Parts: sequence; C-alpha cells; structure tokens
Amino acid sequence: MKKYKKLITYGTFDLFHIGHLNLLKRLKAMTEELIVAVSTDEFNSLKKKKSLIPFEHRAKIVESIKYVDQVIPEKDWEQKILDIKSYGIDAFAIGDDWKGEFDYLKEFCDVIYLERTKNVSSTQLKKSLKNFLSVSPEDLNIAFSILSQLKQDLE
Ligand code: CTP
Repeated sequence: MKKYKKLITYGTFDLFHIGHLNLLKRLKAMTEELIVAVSTDEFNSLKKKKSLIPFEHRAKIVESIKYVDQVIPEKDWEQKILDIKSYGIDAFAIGDDWKGEFDYLKEFCDVIYLERTKNVSSTQLKKSLKNFLSVSPEDLNIAFSILSQLKQDLE
C-alpha cells in the first residue's frame, strides 16, 4: 500500500547515475504519484553549479524513468511552497545531504530525508572523467617520441 498520494523531489540529476535511480525507486515505492523538479541551467548557475548535460536532456532522461510520473522545472529556491500547494503534494523528499534544510516545509506537508547511495555523485563522476581524460607527462613523452620518429621517417 502506498502511503502518499503525491510526493515531490528536487535535484539537478546531472550524469544520471545509480544514486539517482535508487532514490527515485525508493520514492515511488512510497507514493502513488512521483513528481520530480529538475533544476534548470539558469537555476544551477545561480547556485554556482554547472551541469555537463543541458536541462532539456536531464529532464527527458528523468521523465523516461519508470518510477517518475511527471517532471517540472526547478527555477528558484522559493517555488517549493507554491508547488506543494498547486500540485496538492502530501510529501516532500530529498537525500540526507540536505538534512534539516527543508524542515520549514513541514508546515505544508511531510518532509522526508533519505539516506544517499554511498560513493557515487555527479561531482565524483566529473572528477573521474577529468582524470580519465587527462594526459600524463609520460604519455606526452611517448607521443612526442612517436611523432619525432614519424617525422624522421618522412624526411
Ligand atoms: N542522491 C542520492 N545518492 C547519491 C547521489 C544523489 O540519493 N549518491 C540524491 C540527492 O540526495 C538528491 C537527488 O539524488 O536528492 C538529486 O541529487 P543531485 O544533486 O542531482 O545528485 P548528486 O550526484 O549529489 O550531484 P552533485 O555531486 O552535483 O551534488
């Protein structure tokens, strides 16, 4: 039996990963309808956050997840109370990296903080990607030797 009728969550969902999927799956198990507010690129720059994947793509990816019923844009910090009222939300949920931050919403609906999936985040993925793509001085030396040899062979 589902506990809630309409539950809402907010996030950037950049480089969609297993932590995002686990969260959405657990949320859908708690509600009949799951609404996900995905941060727009403009809102992210306001938060000094930069996503690799543009908003339109992030929104489509989240929308295609079978646990998600509806995606709306998250454009500013103030919209939550308005969303809760206009969508008839009975629960707000988010990962526990935000623990306590949204307690002010308890006046309007239940507020739930869920434990995050360990050892994965968009920030971590971006760091791994940077390391993966970085060229070591040894690699550069090898490339230089190969190119020098090629040049000599052509002369
Ligand atoms: N989340 C989670 N477990 C993770 C990562 C994220 O449960 N390992 C949850 C967050 O707590 C949030 C939602 O997924 O409720 C969307 O989070 P988002 O900030 O988009 O994901 P992060 O991977 O934490 O992104 P960043 O590293 O940019 O903060």
